[in-house]
Amino acid sequence: MNALVAESLLAKYDVPGPRYTSYPTVPDWESTPSETQWLERVRAGLQAGNERGAASGHGAASAHGAALYVHIPFCRALCTFCGCNTRITRSHGFVPAYTQALLAELDLYLARLGLTRLEFGELHLGGGTPTFLTAGELEELLAALFQRAQPRTGAVASIEADPRVTGAEQLSVLARYGFRRISLGVQDFDPRVQQIVNRVQSEREVQEVTERARALGFESVNYDLIYGLPLQTRASVEATMDAVCRLRPDRIALYGYAHVPWIKPGQRRFTEMDLPQGEDRRALCELGRERLEREGYREIGLDHFALESDPLWQALHARTLHRNFMGYASAFTRPLIGLGVSSISDAGDAFAQNEKDLQRYQERVTRGELPIQRGHLLDAEDRVLRRHILRLVTRLETRWERPDNRTAYVQTAVQRLAEPAADGLVELDAGGCRVTDTGRAFLRNICMAFDARLARRMPDRELFRVRCGAPPGGLRKA
Ligand SMILES: C[S@@+](CC[C@H](N)C(=O)[O-])C[C@H]1O[C@@H](n2cnc3c(N)ncnc32)[C@H](O)[C@@H]1O
Ligand code: SF4
Repeated sequence: MNALVAESLLAKYDVPGPRYTSYPTVPDWESTPSETQWLERVRAGLQAGNERGAASGHGAASAHGAALYVHIPFCRALCTFCGCNTRITRSHGFVPAYTQALLAELDLYLARLGLTRLEFGELHLGGGTPTFLTAGELEELLAALFQRAQPRTGAVASIEADPRVTGAEQLSVLARYGFRRISLGVQDFDPRVQQIVNRVQSEREVQEVTERARALGFESVNYDLIYGLPLQTRASVEATMDAVCRLRPDRIALYGYAHVPWIKPGQRRFTEMDLPQGEDRRALCELGRERLEREGYREIGLDHFALESDPLWQALHARTLHRNFMGYASAFTRPLIGLGVSSISDAGDAFAQNEKDLQRYQERVTRGELPIQRGHLLDAEDRVLRRHILRLVTRLETRWERPDNRTAYVQTAVQRLAEPAADGLVELDAGGCRVTDTGRAFLRNICMAFDARLARRMPDRELFRVRCGAPPGGLRKA
């Protein structure tokens, strides 16, 4: 594809869209399950997991099983771009009560489900900053957690870590508990950008944590990068990519900066004038993507890249790749039980999010309640559309030849995909659709064709810009 066509496509399809870690996406949730309804769904999900495990021939005690997410909200200082649920503090005084609340929440699940231990296929510590916890605090949390939750054979444990607060002792504790995947927040190496987002960290710090983790047996190191941050330029992003390629992580998440100052007032500490906009922002994304491709990273799906040696790339080819609120995973694990303030759980046909306020979360758990604040019970249409979107983001294709893969809305989706098909982003036939190599960069737009709830909530939201100077359906021929 020539540069002119690429820029036209990028301009045409430059519309905001969800990350599709769930369908329906959180703004479209409308029917919070009662505690009884929620537990029924979790129980059914665990049962289905056991059956999948047994059917896989490895016995019910291997693979599959639940996914467990544990949210640690604490961070030492606020990165002003941050959109996560955090509690900024330098004090560790909050940690013991929070750890107790996490364990109490897991105990509530065990008691309500009649289990002595929860078997998991995936464990992820996210945040905030899980490595805000000292080695001793991590040890205490993990020892108690592993009394209540047991890894199945082949289970994967991963953690999000801030290199500025991650030392050898914490990594050793994690390695001892079987953690083999680590994701480091890198974001950008440019000193001016780091200054304005209040996150100063050196290449050296990132290198040290990467090397230590690898020496301790971590098999996959991911870096989070963001394009679209204030003061970023092509030259600064190029320099960041140089450093990243020198350090050569196994995976990279390249996120577009999400600017939501009405939800995250910290983002008001810079102005919109500081943000790269329009073509400049798109160029930063493209520069990052092209560079990663040149360096041997393969695009996995939405925002994610991996070396061919990484389990994520292998999972894409083995068609076992899965996506949930934690991002991409190399195997299907459901239900996902999220513990901690603001955590989201996924039982397959229901979602639940915990209280987002730390105090309220702790109070409700202490009272013996599951701290669910909101959620959604999927209806029949949601379930079909979810399946299509999940397949698109994990397999880059979906089929609707079987009646249970069809809804009235699938017909609408096909009509909405006519323009992307004419632009060479998808191939449509009577029984399904496949994302082309060109279309990979526009996966979000393609998924939006199946997003009936977004279309009903925002009827004006198209998959592409209707007026951008590009001829409808004419770009492929350009
Ligand atoms: C929980 S943090 C990662 C761990 C740790 N707290 C750190 O920052 O090193 C999750 C990631 O979300 C991404 N992120 C946070 N706010 C964002 C925003 N407004 N737009 C895009 N990505 C964002 C960052 O790349 C960040 O590394
Ligand atoms: S980016 Fe990470 S370290 Fe920075 S405030 Fe957000 S969660 Fe905390």
